[in-house]
Amino acid sequence: MTAKPLLEVLRGGTAPHVPIWLMRQAGRYLPEYRAVREKAGSFLDLCFTPELAAEVTLQPLRRFGLDAAIIFSDILVVPAALGQRVTFEEGHGPVLEPVRTPKDVAQLSKERFDATLRPVAEAIALVRQKLLPAAALFGFAGAPWTVASYMVEGGSGGDFATVKTWAYRDPDSFAGLIDLLVEVTAEYLLQQVDAGADVLQIFDSWAGVLPEAALERWALRPTTEIVRRVGAKRPGVPIVVFPRGIGANYLRYANECDCTGLGLDTTVSPVWAALELQPKKIVQGSLDPLLLVVGGDAMRDAAKRILDSLGDRRFIFNLGHGILPQTPPDHVADLCSFVHDWRR
Ligand code: CP3
Repeated sequence: MTAKPLLEVLRGGTAPHVPIWLMRQAGRYLPEYRAVREKAGSFLDLCFTPELAAEVTLQPLRRFGLDAAIIFSDILVVPAALGQRVTFEEGHGPVLEPVRTPKDVAQLSKERFDATLRPVAEAIALVRQKLLPAAALFGFAGAPWTVASYMVEGGSGGDFATVKTWAYRDPDSFAGLIDLLVEVTAEYLLQQVDAGADVLQIFDSWAGVLPEAALERWALRPTTEIVRRVGAKRPGVPIVVFPRGIGANYLRYANECDCTGLGLDTTVSPVWAALELQPKKIVQGSLDPLLLVVGGDAMRDAAKRILDSLGDRRFIFNLGHGILPQTPPDHVADLCSFVHDWRR
């Protein structure tokens, strides 16, 4: 087996350099992505056409010395595969036909779930054939809470009042939606492993809007259950969980979730994470994406502070949230070299 530095680190070993990949590393900041995106038609057509999805997955790896690819898709392919109407509108982000009642949940269907998502597995198999042996391949899904919040709110940009009101007022019926998402998300992640993903990430981008008791019930427990189900069937596949914005509750994930790694958002202190989280989990993060837009010394100084606290071992360099569309690609190249050369 060929050594992949990122997998070495996730197995608790040492690597010749600190591995780096970037959330949303394939996307609009790359002109070659915009060209394929135009040709694909809709955003979901791009996600569901294996040759095109594989192509945009590989684009950032051709340019930069990244240690991992992440399969090009979206967390909202799951509601689409359950039959919810999902579209991505230029400048507006995702728009979904809202699911707001138990009756709406009952109309979702698992019947076409596997068939709809098969192109993602095919794209993973295509990437696998072309990826350099030193690079790892991430599969991913959204955590139930974050996916449910898009399903219920009908898109992004709201204050989460609709989904939180449902969860607080009628937890038993809201649990019906969360339980469905736990079940299908675990299956979907297993399909990605079987297609060739080496490692998985679960994105809980909106975990941070929940107070602790609700966080436990709607974010920590469902994600932990998915990790358990995947681990029971494919032991040894590392899973990184990214519960963005949860502050000191990262400790609860470190103690209660059986994941391999924790993705840190931009606000987590690297010094605190080194003391409290790194003994229990591999940590990943956490540069502010705006520092990658700014570049230069501001970016390198911030990257160095993160590396000096966390970089010795048990660490994967990343951003604290996804790459912004206005990011200059040259800054990504600089960051990759800086991280790889750190302490050399
Ligand atoms: O390179 C990669 O990281 C893989 C691809 C990927 C996308 N979305 C592609 C995408 C991944 C891992 C995601 C995850 C995702 N999608 C999350 C979790 C991470 C996060 O950012 O918090 C969320 C919340 C979504 C939902 C989503 N998809 C939103 C809110 C939007 C609109 C905002 C935006 O950036 O436009 C999307 C669209 C989307 N997903 C784009 C890309 C490249 C841009 C759409 C386009 O090209 O037209």
